[in-house]
Amino acid sequence: MADLSINVDGMQFENPFVIGSGPPGTNARVISRCFDAGWGGVIAKTTSLTDTPVVNLAPRYAKYYNADKDVIGFQNVELISDRPFEDWEADFRLLKEKYPKKMLIASLMESYDKGRWQELTERSAACGVDGFELNFSCPHGHPETGMGAAMGQNPDMVREVTSWVVEACDIPVWSKMTPNITDIATPAQAAREGGAHGVSAINTILAVTGVNLKTLRPLPTIADGSIPGGYSGQAVKPIALRMVKEICMAMPGYSVSGIGGVWNSDHAIEFLLMGANTVQVCTGAMLLGYDMVQDLCSGLSDFMDEHGFTSVDQVVGRSLPYFSTHHDLVDRQNAARQAKAEARKASNRDNLWGNANIQDETASLTTNED
Ligand SMILES: Cc1cc2nc3c(=O)[nH]c(=O)nc-3n(C[C@H](O)[C@H](O)[C@H](O)COP(=O)(O)O)c2cc1C
Repeated sequence: MADLSINVDGMQFENPFVIGSGPPGTNARVISRCFDAGWGGVIAKTTSLTDTPVVNLAPRYAKYYNADKDVIGFQNVELISDRPFEDWEADFRLLKEKYPKKMLIASLMESYDKGRWQELTERSAACGVDGFELNFSCPHGHPETGMGAAMGQNPDMVREVTSWVVEACDIPVWSKMTPNITDIATPAQAAREGGAHGVSAINTILAVTGVNLKTLRPLPTIADGSIPGGYSGQAVKPIALRMVKEICMAMPGYSVSGIGGVWNSDHAIEFLLMGANTVQVCTGAMLLGYDMVQDLCSGLSDFMDEHGFTSVDQVVGRSLPYFSTHHDLVDRQNAARQAKAEARKASNRDNLWGNANIQDETASLTTNED
């Protein structure tokens, strides 16, 4: 097995695969299962101070199927953790005691209030967590009260709130970006200006999974109604890769945790190649189980051996130089066509025969060569 370890912002991950904030990180019991299965880190389910109102709906998910009935997308209208923050403090302490080498990152969300953000930060840091992820991206429910994506869509707020958290702790801070915005690099740059060590991207994309054609009720249907919710799973991967690429190209060398639709090791490697230095998985772990990390690790190891990479750092961002602009590709295409035409013209001269193998020279002048 290749060496999959990577140091990110001072956090030492045994592999770059991290559980994204959500149900697989919702209490110490499930987080322990993730660590036992081999995940390098876990972002805990987003927490807030105990008096922050959080009332979840049930049911709260809808699956999006293709014609073969495979799940290709997943919608949720789940809020952040409904557990008292005191329970989280106990869980953080317990987990760090039991798994000192695994990276445990607390995900925080609060209202626009410096004192509340700093209290949440200081109390979580005191429990020994390794880093923070700031949830500026929950797309449903909380934005109605000015939290989550309501902050993430406002770069000034992202900068300011990030700076409150950075001021209140001395461990790494990642700000989590919403994809429900025109240019994701703008809030990512604001997070960096606020002192964030890195950003995570993406949270879920606002969506309506479908409509029940018998009842005319949109999906998911809850209490005879519905709300647009956060879309995740395989279908979002192309959008997530594009957004990670945009952040990585806007801020070369900056730490980015890539998220969105990872189902297998190929998908995870694609995020590394786009410039992410860790890869988070939430829906994949919910639908395939915690053990999927074993495929992620063996697939990355095989890929590194095949290409001669000896560290994960060497994979990070490796495909970015191939991106260009449309006009540059047009110029390159024209130059390649011109070079080919000139080569054809040159090979048409009788005094050039004999510079190569005669069968190849014959083939180059043949119109129906296989
Ligand atoms: C059921 C569910 C609950 C989620 N809860 C949170 C949350 O509490 N905090 C957060 O930052 N992201 C949350 N997310 C978003 C995920 O962490 C992730 O950004 C998103 O789902 C895309 O990745 P995926 O396709 O691997 O799930 C949740 C996602 C799902 C599916």
